[in-house]
Amino acid sequence: MAVGSHLSSINPAFLTDEERWKKMEITDIPVMLSHRGEIVCIPKESEVFSCAIVGSSGKGKSLIANRLVGSLYHQWGYNVAVMNDLSEETYKWSEPMKRGQFNEFNDTYIHQPPVESPITYVFPNTTSIKVPDFVKKKSYVKIVLPFNEILDNLGFYLGGVCPDFDLGKSGMYVNELKEELLECDSPTQVKEVLEELLPSEKGFKAMGIKIRTAFNALIKEEILDITNPECHAYLKLREEGYISNPFSVLMKAKAIPSFITSDLRTKKYKSEVFAYYINAILKNHLREFPGEKTFLFFDELREVCERDDNPAARAIGSVAARGRINNVGLIYATQFYDKIPPYVKGAKLNYCFAFAHNSSKILNELASDFDLDKKTKERIKRLKTFEVIAMTNNKFVCYFDGDRYETTKPIRGTIFYPLADHLQAN
Ligand SMILES: Nc1ncnc2c1ncn2[C@@H]1O[C@H](COP(=O)(O)OP(=O)(O)OP(=O)(O)O)[C@@H](O)[C@H]1O
Ligand SMILES: [Mg+2]
Repeated sequence: MAVGSHLSSINPAFLTDEERWKKMEITDIPVMLSHRGEIVCIPKESEVFSCAIVGSSGKGKSLIANRLVGSLYHQWGYNVAVMNDLSEETYKWSEPMKRGQFNEFNDTYIHQPPVESPITYVFPNTTSIKVPDFVKKKSYVKIVLPFNEILDNLGFYLGGVCPDFDLGKSGMYVNELKEELLECDSPTQVKEVLEELLPSEKGFKAMGIKIRTAFNALIKEEILDITNPECHAYLKLREEGYISNPFSVLMKAKAIPSFITSDLRTKKYKSEVFAYYINAILKNHLREFPGEKTFLFFDELREVCERDDNPAARAIGSVAARGRINNVGLIYATQFYDKIPPYVKGAKLNYCFAFAHNSSKILNELASDFDLDKKTKERIKRLKTFEVIAMTNNKFVCYFDGDRYETTKPIRGTIFYPLADHLQAN
C-alpha cells in the first residue's frame, strides 16, 4: 500500500493518492532521475537521433542501452536491432527485469512495470558457431550471406577472408564469369566454373591459382548460402510475401533481432559481415519501412570498428551521416570515446551519456564535443555506478512537480533501469 492510501485509511483527514498526485502521461523516453529530482527524458521528435554511451567497464552503459532499446520498441513502437552482442548479454533481455531494487526505482518515479524485449537471436554461421541449447528454446535463426549478392562486390569479400588478397587486374576475369557463377548453388559448381572458364594459358597460371585459392578460402569459412543452405540468407513473411535480409524481416515481424557476435569477433572478415547487414538495412529502409523509424544499436563499438578503413566503420558512418534522412537512428556504447573512427563520429551526436571515466583524453574530447565546463568534466570522474552525466546538442525534456520544460544543459543523475532483465557481471 502506498503511503498516501495507508495514511488516508487511518484517518480521512489525510489526502488519498489520487488527491496527492497528478497523473501525467509521458510520451518522451525517461532516461534518468536528475540529482534535483527531475525525470529527464529524450523527447519524441519527428526525426531519429544519434546517441553515444561512454564510460568505463561495469558502470551502466549496457543497462541504459537495454532501457533505450526496450523503450524505443515498446513506448514509441519503433523497430530496433541490436547489431553487436559480443558478450551474449541479450539472452537475458528476452525476460522481464527480475532485480527488485531496479523495478522499485522505476515504479516509484515513473510507474513502469518490467517487460521483456521480444528478441530473436541471430547467429552468423561460421566454422565454429555453436547455438547454446537453452537458446534453442528461444527464438533464434542462423544466417549466411547470399552468394549472388557477394558476387556484386567479390573483391571486397575475398579481401575479407584473405586480408592480403587484392583482386586487382584479375577482377576483370572474375567479372566475366559472373553470370555462370550466379547460376551456382554449391561449392562444387563454383569450382567447376572456375576450372572450366578461367583462362588456361600459361601466362594466366599464377593469377588462376590466386583466384581459386581466394574462392576456396571464402568457401571454407561456411558463411555463404551455397555452403550452408540450411541457414538463411533471406527471410520471408508468409502473408505479405515480403523477402529481405534477416534483420529487416525480423523487424517487420515486430521482433528485435540481436546479432550474437561472440564467435564472429575473432574472424578476420567480421567487418565485411557487419558492413553487409548495416548497408542492407539502411539502403532499403525508406522503401521497406515507409513512415517507420528504426534504430541500430552497437554495444562495444570498438569490437565492430576501430579505424576508418574498416568496412564496418564506413557502414556505421553512413548511418551517422544519412540515417536521419532514411529514418534510421544510431546508438553506440563504448569505453573508448577517443577511439571512435572519424567516419562514425563525423556527424554531430544528438545525445551522449557519460558514466564514470577518468581518462583525461576522453574527458577533453567530451568537453569539446558537448561544451562542458571544467566542473562537469571533473564530475564525470567521481560518478558512482548507475550515475551518469547526460549531455546533448539537441535538448532534454524534464518533468518536475507537474511541470514539463526543456533544457540543453548537461544534467547529472541516476539512470532509470531497463524494463527487460540484464546480465549482472561477476
Ligand atoms: N540484473 C542485475 N542486477 C544487479 N546488478 C546488475 C544487473 N545487471 C547489471 N548489473 C550491474 O550493473 C552494473 C552496470 O552493468 P552494465 O552491463 O551496464 O556495464 P557496462 O557499463 O556496460 O560495462 P562493460 O563496459 O563491461 O560492458 C554492473 O556493475 C553490473 O554488475
Ligand atoms: Mg556493457
